[in-house]
Amino acid sequence: MKEEQIINLIEEAIKYRLRAYSPYSHYMVGAALLTDSGKVYGGCNIENASFGATNCAERTAFFKAVSEKEMDFTAIAIVGGPTEEADHGFSDYAYPCGVCRQVMKEFCKKDFKIIVARDTRDYKVFDLCELLPMGFGGIYEH
Ligand code: THU
Repeated sequence: MKEEQIINLIEEAIKYRLRAYSPYSHYMVGAALLTDSGKVYGGCNIENASFGATNCAERTAFFKAVSEKEMDFTAIAIVGGPTEEADHGFSDYAYPCGVCRQVMKEFCKKDFKIIVARDTRDYKVFDLCELLPMGFGGIYEH
């Protein structure tokens, strides 16, 4: 991936973070999922009074995309931080939870990239096999 593409994807994730519905954790997450055709699907975390019904930002983005019949994904950018942190320069990288890693395992090819960012110029890029070694299932080899 070109650096410009990565920066654009992080910027989209930062925008979507501001849409988080997180009155319980006060932790806002944004994700931006890039398809092989160049489309971006954004997602935010959406919490619920019944905590287990919460949906993570990454899964929101994936489910939006898959529901539009998208099945070919290049990368996802993820940003997160407490509500009081503004819209850049987050204090920590927001790594995807185990359930979201499993959803990525379902839909993503071997070369899919996971970008965790604190800012547009402060990010790390991972392969799914690094974040979910010896994972179960999915339609692609890893
Ligand atoms: N969260 C995400 O959106 N993505 C993750 O991968 C980890 C956690 C959300 C869920 C919940 O709304 C908040 O962060 C605190 O756990």
